Amino acid sequence: MLTNGSQTERIEAGTGKMPRHVAIIMDGNGRWAKKRMLPRAMGHKRGVETVRKIVRAAGELGLETLTLYAFSSENWKRPEDEINDLMGLMREFIKSDLDEFAANDVRLKIIGNYKALAPDIVEMLEESIARTSQNTRTTLAVALNYGAQDELVRAARSAAAQGEITVESIEANLDTAGLPPLDLLIRTSGEQRLSNFMLWQAAYAEFWFTDTLWPDFSKDELAQALTEFSTRERRYGGR
Ligand code: FPP
Repeated sequence: MLTNGSQTERIEAGTGKMPRHVAIIMDGNGRWAKKRMLPRAMGHKRGVETVRKIVRAAGELGLETLTLYAFSSENWKRPEDEINDLMGLMREFIKSDLDEFAANDVRLKIIGNYKALAPDIVEMLEESIARTSQNTRTTLAVALNYGAQDELVRAARSAAAQGEITVESIEANLDTAGLPPLDLLIRTSGEQRLSNFMLWQAAYAEFWFTDTLWPDFSKDELAQALTEFSTRERRYGGR
């Protein structure tokens, strides 16, 4: 098994192109549970454990920003039971992991229309954001009630209200304003689509897909994605 140190050193020794900002579409919790004849809720529960592991790994691998797609604006279409399970896990996660973030210099940021979530969740999130706002090692951006089209509409409206609509003025009004440009987008579970995630930010991002279901995703696999990123040539439309 690779240790973090050696993997990071290898990335640096290769081309030095470590991504600054990695985003992950965490997919496959339901299938993971189904394969084991477990309820979907168990898949989500294991999914949260993987979130914990991967946030830790991101810090150890020296990632500046990790964005995780936790709940999309389309996920409201799921049965009420499942939405309740996901919200319950969210509450648990914020409560139990905030201390660890604070201790590990993780700054929490939320993207998406999170203010439409239950008032107690909004309150916990805002408290956590405030409490970790001075942390600098890793930024964990969690996408909650997030949809990229909605984000873009909100950004365009704000930009128009402020004056001219330009690439810069839209960018400055996206939920991701202030984060480094998205370098690498990972999706687990074998699906290869964006699902209304970071449409604008993905303009020049590299994509990395794996068949691994989210509960089985590991630090080693994240490190593998970073290594592969370091070998890709990005031209941004140039030659
Ligand atoms: C996809 O599985 C996953 C989600 C619906 C979102 C990811 C949510 C978590 C990992 C748990 C909550 C997160 C936090 C940060 C507390 P799916 O149900 O779409 O799987 P399937 O496609 O196999 O059915």
